[in-house]
Amino acid sequence: MKEIDRIREISRQMSQNATFAGYDHARRVTQVALDIGRGEGADLEALEVAGLLHDVGVPLDKPRHYEIGAFLVKGILTELGYDRDFVEKVARMVETHSRYGGPEPETLEEKVLQDADAVEYVGAIGLARGIVRGMENGSYTGNVDELPALIDSLTKQVSGNLHTERARELIEGRVRFLQEFKERLEKELHGEA
Ligand SMILES: [Fe+2]
Ligand SMILES: [Fe+2]
Repeated sequence: MKEIDRIREISRQMSQNATFAGYDHARRVTQVALDIGRGEGADLEALEVAGLLHDVGVPLDKPRHYEIGAFLVKGILTELGYDRDFVEKVARMVETHSRYGGPEPETLEEKVLQDADAVEYVGAIGLARGIVRGMENGSYTGNVDELPALIDSLTKQVSGNLHTERARELIEGRVRFLQEFKERLEKELHGEA
């Protein structure tokens, strides 16, 4: 089995029960990271590996998953025989990927991965994930009257602090969808549609 296939398998195994940060999320973040990375001339191998593994710490310690994730990733990649520089590079990308904790991304690859993860906060995918996340962490009760506020909080999460033009583009379209969805939702809630 090729290393990357093993990494896919490890990601799938380790993110079972991770709901909104499961393997489906890791796979999509990887695709977006490669899309952004291609345009930026970034190290695509590092982006693919880091994208697949960036949230493996979530089932163990959600609030500090980037820290435990970086630790786990070092072990996984060393075990698979990757050289030390690559292991350090990917571990650092995992450690800096979160917009809500951990060190700031500094290298191009660190910035691209953080941007790719941000894209998943908005759009139809972001809304689906946001509802699940909110219900899991207790910030959303499931009351549809409170959904417009949840949508606003998703939009706020991606305002500012983006590193690449491609991510800004993707996010702009997804935020537009959320605004339209919210307008429709409010109409329905007011009995106007
Ligand atoms: Fe994360
Ligand atoms: Fe993520």
